[in-house]
Amino acid sequence: MVKLQSFLMLSLAATALAAPSWWEQWSLGKKTNRVAHDEDRRLVQTSDQKAPFWTSEAERLDMLRNNVNYMDITDYMDLGTSLKPLGKKPLPKTAVHQNKVARYVDQLSTANMEIALTKFTSFNTRYYKSETGFESAKWLYKQISDLIEETDAESDISIRKFDHPWKQFSIIARFEGKNESLSNSPVIVGAHQDSVNMWLPQWGRSPGADDDGSGTVTILEVFRALVNTGFRPNRPVEFHWYSAEEAGLLGSQAVAQSYEKKGVDVLAMIQNDMTGYVGTKFAESYGIVVDYVDDELTELVRVFARTYGDIPVRETKCGYACSDHASWAKAGYRSAFAIEGDFSDSSPYIHTSNDDVSHINFNHMKQFAKLALGFAVELGHFKGEI
Ligand code: BES
Ligand code: ZN
Repeated sequence: MVKLQSFLMLSLAATALAAPSWWEQWSLGKKTNRVAHDEDRRLVQTSDQKAPFWTSEAERLDMLRNNVNYMDITDYMDLGTSLKPLGKKPLPKTAVHQNKVARYVDQLSTANMEIALTKFTSFNTRYYKSETGFESAKWLYKQISDLIEETDAESDISIRKFDHPWKQFSIIARFEGKNESLSNSPVIVGAHQDSVNMWLPQWGRSPGADDDGSGTVTILEVFRALVNTGFRPNRPVEFHWYSAEEAGLLGSQAVAQSYEKKGVDVLAMIQNDMTGYVGTKFAESYGIVVDYVDDELTELVRVFARTYGDIPVRETKCGYACSDHASWAKAGYRSAFAIEGDFSDSSPYIHTSNDDVSHINFNHMKQFAKLALGFAVELGHFKGEI
């Protein structure tokens, strides 16, 4: 008994010597916590009037749950600060390519969009940091590159991955323009490929059918129609599928920043984010966003909607940093944004496991495909002042 006691005493003493004391443990814990904490501290901006501030991941999640839009500017502080202001180019005032656009519109298929969206929403989540978000990006990339490979048209079309410091890459597909002198002045049609479940971002099921599977598939179908009909614009026309929109517009800021640094003179950008839900308050319509956009371009988008769409236009507001068009606006380019209807009548299911295809209206998406087609063809053929 005595032996056992002294053995216990000895081993206790030994452990006490070897193990960190309570205050060491406490401060070590504090330190490791702080390291982990610091790593995900990010600088965000929630308005043009308010100074940016530092946030934890938990705080950013709260903002998402409370519909506080933010831009995570930590790595993009110099977006829009280029020494050589690019200046905005004149735009056309009317639609002049009705005949051409009609040919492409004939190619649009709601059945195709349904097949693509059903597959795209089958990944558990497209969260930008997740393995399945990476898988979904690879799947999307393959759909686009297969379309390019299958065509025998003589168009000059390319695709590239735009890598980020997180798993899911952004995707850029590009129709080269015929007119060499316009090669630095592309037109951009964008959507975001990532999704998020605001209650469980890492693992929670997040089909993101409307937000933003709908925009992703809308512009994929537009791209398909153009590829299959041998689209050959005068200036480059690019299709962008951004990663990490839901994390503060990270992917689009990275792309816009790289364009700004290279001195790319983007003529115009349109974002397609949420094109698939028809609300219950108002009749089916295009929601044309009028805040934080370029007014002249938005006026032109309204003209395209009237010319190429079959539903009325409603002006609506979406707030600061509501989607990826904001990154292009911040970089000094013209950007516009069309959404599924009045902001107040938009899908109540987004950012949850209920944002699935059962709430999607594919004819509504087709209206947005027509608008994006009009945008790509009219502006892609626009020669402007040479
Ligand atoms: N698709 C939404 C924006 C949206 C909401 C468009 C409703 C049309 C109607 C977008 O993906 C989003 O969720 N944005 C966040 C901001 C983001 C920077 C975290 C938002 O609105 O809270
Ligand atoms: Zn969203």
